Amino acid sequence: MYNFADFTILGVNNPAAQPKNIKTAVTEVTVQQQRSKYMKMKFARICAIAVVALAVLPAQAASLVDGDAEAGKAKSITCSACHGASGNSISPLWPNIAGQSAKYIVAQLKAFKTGKRTNPLMTSQAMLLSDEDMLNLAVFFETLPAAAQAVADPALINRAEALFRGGNAEEGIAACIACHGPTGRGNPAAAYPALNGQHAAYTAKQLNDYASGARKSDGATRIMRQIAERLSADDIEALASYIQGLK
Ligand code: HEC
Ligand code: HEC
Repeated sequence: MYNFADFTILGVNNPAAQPKNIKTAVTEVTVQQQRSKYMKMKFARICAIAVVALAVLPAQAASLVDGDAEAGKAKSITCSACHGASGNSISPLWPNIAGQSAKYIVAQLKAFKTGKRTNPLMTSQAMLLSDEDMLNLAVFFETLPAAAQAVADPALINRAEALFRGGNAEEGIAACIACHGPTGRGNPAAAYPALNGQHAAYTAKQLNDYASGARKSDGATRIMRQIAERLSADDIEALASYIQGLK
């Protein structure tokens, strides 16, 4: 009997990574599984979370958050100083938030306000927002078109694509595609963020912040902290570059 985690490692939820010979691959995985049972258990948990989320993938375009985009637009003037009038920022360390799913935006604004996520520039902004402001702003930014950018370094595409689409079974790194989707658009219902077109410098900082535990907004599941702490510096550089080019 093979459990779900075996098949996830084989890339069943990633058609691009389907092995030709499932039997051989499963044997390999089982040997490796015995070597690192503890790591595998954590990995299986992450994969199970991904599957639950995929099951609720929405088909509709309407916002999952009940907010007023017009009121959000009026409130967004202060935000535009850093995030740009179009929701896409000029500084590579200030995230693009145009087109981001509203549910995720609300979760992050709350995380900044409650201190689960901290940043000298952003925390003070979130402190000024009521729950209603957050809903309105989230719905407004969700309606704006996401940025389209090129990869930061084309030489890193192969390394990044392999990790993004297939993960790394040996290191226990789940494939990013399972939660963030093949083009990085995320899963709005599950509040898995869109990553496409995000500045590489910002993405690299977030992965490093998860890895060090500085960013804890993934909460009790620790989804991103567990993944990021297994990424090497080279992995992070390659993934951040690749994500910037996703459209
Ligand atoms: C002074 C600059 C500044 C202003 C003004 C500002 N932000 Fe930010 N914002 C940032 C920075 C910097 C980050 C990234 C923090 C980090 O590195 O974790 C951020 C992060 C965010 C994020 C998280 C994005 C993600 O992908 O996780 C959201 C959402 C956000 N800001 C919304 C807003 C809204 C809404 C406003 C207006 C009420 C606003 N910001 C005003 C600087 C700013
Ligand atoms: C099991 C689901 C899952 C998998 C697999 C996953 N992520 Fe995530 N990711 C999340 C969730 C959930 C969040 C939001 C957590 C939070 O609120 O801080 C997130 C957040 C992020 C962020 C922060 C985005 C932002 O705008 O600040 C980045 C960057 C990221 N993930 C990259 C990756 C990469 C790269 C991989 C693959 C190596 C990956 N993720 C695999 C679920 C996942």
